[in-house]
Amino acid sequence: MEPFRPQYHFSPAKNWMNDPNGMVFYEGEYHLFYQYNPAGDKWGHMSWGHAVSPDMVHWTHLPLALPEADNVMIFSGSAVVDWKNSSGFGKDGKPPLIAVYTGFRTTDRVQFQCIAYSNDKGRTWTKYSGNPVIDINSTDFRDPKVQWHEATRRWIMTVSLSAEHKVRFYGSDNLKAWTLLSEFGPAGATGGVWECPDLFELALPGTNDKRWVLAVNMNPGSVAGGSGGQYFVGHFDGTRFVADRDSVIPPTSRRSPSASALWFDYGPDYYAAVSWSDVPASDGRRLWLGWMSNWDYGGDVPTSPWRSAMSIPRDVGLRRTADGIRLVQKPVREMESLRDRHFAFKGGDLSEANAWLKERHVEGDQLELMVEFEAQSSGTEGVKVVKGDREATVIGVDRQRGQAFVDRRQSGNVRFHRKFSGLYEAPLPVRDVRVKLHVFVDASSVEVFVNDGERVFTSLVFPSAASRGVEFFGSATSSKITALDVWTLKSIWR
Ligand code: FRU
Repeated sequence: MEPFRPQYHFSPAKNWMNDPNGMVFYEGEYHLFYQYNPAGDKWGHMSWGHAVSPDMVHWTHLPLALPEADNVMIFSGSAVVDWKNSSGFGKDGKPPLIAVYTGFRTTDRVQFQCIAYSNDKGRTWTKYSGNPVIDINSTDFRDPKVQWHEATRRWIMTVSLSAEHKVRFYGSDNLKAWTLLSEFGPAGATGGVWECPDLFELALPGTNDKRWVLAVNMNPGSVAGGSGGQYFVGHFDGTRFVADRDSVIPPTSRRSPSASALWFDYGPDYYAAVSWSDVPASDGRRLWLGWMSNWDYGGDVPTSPWRSAMSIPRDVGLRRTADGIRLVQKPVREMESLRDRHFAFKGGDLSEANAWLKERHVEGDQLELMVEFEAQSSGTEGVKVVKGDREATVIGVDRQRGQAFVDRRQSGNVRFHRKFSGLYEAPLPVRDVRVKLHVFVDASSVEVFVNDGERVFTSLVFPSAASRGVEFFGSATSSKITALDVWTLKSIWR
């Protein structure tokens, strides 16, 4: 019995996992490598674990891809398909996969960038004999994210100078020799080390306009405490990233942590998010996921014999808002393949919806719920999930205060670490009285997408086995629920 085992989130069978690494799509497979300790359920002996999937939802575990060796741990990084064989590591006319990772030398803690290549769809890897490819003799230089930049026809590496709150960009023709191009930062939130940066271009819907997004994970000091992530929207010309003015919050407007930077998730458990490389242009999506945990308590979560899971994969986009261009995220459409039993409410008020939930026995620990309701002008309203007699994870909005929130203070076992219990808030500009919540519950996690991905909250929870209920709450029982769909979700492991 593994009571908290996620049934549709990726988790290792046993031992410790943190960041997603080396995410690349090649020949019909989404690769997910990840920071893994093959020898224990706490951080250590970092190596790259490996899994593949045809759809980012159903995963096949594969053997360890890059093991720690010779006093060098394999820290986070990325992977690309070297289509033109610029590295010369290709074989039989086929492009190699190149992994670009940080080597962490345990003897002096120096971090440097290395590469490895694979000629068999990522099954086996050879570390480059000329490693490291970049070494500046720093103990805070890590997490290279590499991409091909077509306009300047070269490879770009985005990598962080963690302690200096800077991102560096390097360029290369062959993935082996790199030149420093520029630096970005400090900017935005700088309360913790900058890690796992990502840089990608997105289209602005309905226009021919595009923008570059620089995502920077930060630990600690993020919006929900501990680990989290911020982003900047701007321009990248192949050499330099320049943030749009309205994507950097001036210090005078930083009234609260949630208003101090642009956060891509307002919950406590979405970290080290990085996107997949080489998703075919015919697909066109920018897809990412994050480590569903937090360095504050990740080593203490009450699961065994594994620790940690990845979030569900998300489709990332941009939206023009009154405040500027902002990131929006939605669950990937492939998630719909998990839908099992469907419950559709015909509409009504809050008490009618609750009576319907009871009558139809709508409950469970693998659920997807989509609700649209009219928020009252004062008070809070929303939905409780994984609810028992004395427990619930509470998801709601407060229109008057202009906030959306997730409250896990009574979600179950919150005592295993003093930093676990919490109430998390995100600003929610009110344009319309209608609020949409899209919620995914899976054994020990709750992910919430508010108003078509304008805000996202990812939170771990450890409820008792009997806490499986769903219930709406609000200051007025006459609150209107205009649409409500619930699905039970299938397990990916059966
Ligand atoms: C982020 C991180 C990375 C590093 C890895 C080590 O969670 O600290 O910066 O490469 O984890 O496991």
